[in-house]
Amino acid sequence: MERRRVGILGATGTVGQRFVQLLDRHPWFEIAWLAASDRSAGKPYRQACNWKLDTPMPSRIAEMVLQTNTPVEGADPPRTIFAALDADVARDLEPRFAAAGCAVISNSSAFRMTQDVPLVVPEVNGDHLPLLETQAVRRQSGGYIVTNPNCSAIGLVLVLKPLEQRFGIESLFVSTMQAVSGAGYPGVPSMDILGNVVPFIRNEEEKMQEEVGKLLGLYSGNSIDMLQAKVSAHCNRVAVLDGHTECVSIKLRTPASREQVLAAWESFHPLEGRGLPSAPEKPVLYNDSPDRPQPRLDVSAGNGMSTTVGRLRPCALLDWKFVLTSHNVIRGAAGAAVLNAELLARGGKLPKGAGRAS
Ligand SMILES: NC(=O)c1ccc[n+]([C@@H]2O[C@H](COP(=O)([O-])OP(=O)(O)OC[C@H]3O[C@@H](n4cnc5c(N)ncnc54)[C@H](OP(=O)(O)O)[C@@H]3O)[C@@H](O)[C@H]2O)c1
Repeated sequence: MERRRVGILGATGTVGQRFVQLLDRHPWFEIAWLAASDRSAGKPYRQACNWKLDTPMPSRIAEMVLQTNTPVEGADPPRTIFAALDADVARDLEPRFAAAGCAVISNSSAFRMTQDVPLVVPEVNGDHLPLLETQAVRRQSGGYIVTNPNCSAIGLVLVLKPLEQRFGIESLFVSTMQAVSGAGYPGVPSMDILGNVVPFIRNEEEKMQEEVGKLLGLYSGNSIDMLQAKVSAHCNRVAVLDGHTECVSIKLRTPASREQVLAAWESFHPLEGRGLPSAPEKPVLYNDSPDRPQPRLDVSAGNGMSTTVGRLRPCALLDWKFVLTSHNVIRGAAGAAVLNAELLARGGKLPKGAGRAS
């Protein structure tokens, strides 16, 4: 089968390394181009990248030379670009790649809330993708930008979607315990986080609150009608390497029993039968042990693509409360973007480019 040539922007960072790991043996995509900052351009990946994953750096990628961060010209440029850039850099670079005809599959917050940019989790709101057709750049070059949400919003919306579908959500309160890898590398200094909790992550609470509204909103032709629910988030950084844990209290529009809530999660597998390689069999897994989920034990569920939820119990203030854990760099970033690209490929929406036999 033909594999589509793809590129990674920000390939040396925390999310970029996960892209390399997840795409190295991907059945549909082949890494053909890597770029990062000017500091890295011209160096082989093995020299530019401080590899932090527990699998070896793929040998083919190790010898690839990082290119400059400009759209590729030439006979066979990769037209699908996975972007793992800080928002300030993304705001400048991502539109340039879209203007050059690329599908930019972005992780940054720069354009998530822009009206004509889809903010997508395939299991939750894959039906928002047609929004990309309203981007002016799409008409001009064929390129576009698609985003995935903040790493703490994504685990949450997977668990909320089946509840919103069946019962409606009136309000929710969420308090997070977020891993240090969520801050990129080197991230939070060890002297600030070891033996400590930092009750502040810049802009994180705002992102969670507004992104949940867009993700659970309704696509109405050329915009998204935001979910009308009150969302209050507290975001905390804790001394965990990978895996964000969130304590949630929720008020539903229609009362639901414990059995009905569990059944909503159990029967939630909207991508079943779609044949997307990165889609987990079950995006939401309920663990009924009294002390689960825990990041160390549950972060890799579904190859890091499933959210584990547990401790469902009545809430004295709202209706129900529960705890969830999801992998912030796989489901919360690189894996989410790869799944978005698979959904776009399945829908024939990735720009044409030459492929190679795998
Ligand atoms: N970490 C997570 O769990 C997570 C989850 C969800 C979303 N995100 C988002 O994903 C994005 C990347 O985060 P990260 O954690 O991977 O950050 P990171 O570890 O700091 O990596 C940043 C990457 O951007 C590159 N870069 C910096 N300036 C550049 C420029 N001018 N042009 C091209 N590349 C440039 C860096 O290259 P050099 O090595 O050359 O400096 C590096 O590859 C951010 O927007 C973040 O908010 C992260």
